[in-house]
Amino acid sequence: MARFWIGAIALMALVSVSATSTQGPALDRVMRKKLECAQKILEAVVTSRWADLEAQSKEMEALTNDPDWAVLKMPEYARHSADFRRSVRALRDAAVTRDLDATPQAYAALTLSCVQCHRYLARERIARQ
Ligand code: HEC
Repeated sequence: MARFWIGAIALMALVSVSATSTQGPALDRVMRKKLECAQKILEAVVTSRWADLEAQSKEMEALTNDPDWAVLKMPEYARHSADFRRSVRALRDAAVTRDLDATPQAYAALTLSCVQCHRYLARERIARQ
């Protein structure tokens, strides 16, 4: 379990440093909110605050429906967005059923999907140069 949390926290750090912005302030605003939300989710997961976790994962899902989130029109981006939305839903389901095993796993999967989309964006950028 300790190893899991070290991994999860390292992933969070990776998300915050590897995402440098070029898409404009509206998307930045959504991403900042998303980061805040992900931090609150981490707090709720480690303290088993189920009601908070449910509320925060709902908030996270709402953020993915923000029109500023869908600024990039590439199909691959849409695919990453869909993967991300699926991870958010899995986390919410785990919170609703108070599942102590599925919840941290769903959290890790969610964080991974942040990183995967950011890595995809970085690859795109290198390919375009
Ligand atoms: C579907 C793709 C996608 C997913 C999933 C995603 N992001 Fe992002 N993120 C972006 C894009 C696009 C940007 C804009 C920066 C860029 O162009 O590289 C960004 C930028 C950011 C930034 C930098 C914003 C700034 O103010 O500079 C942060 C922080 C961030 N994301 C956090 C997260 C977190 C936390 C998650 C997961 C909970 C996440 N993102 C999931 C696409 C995504």
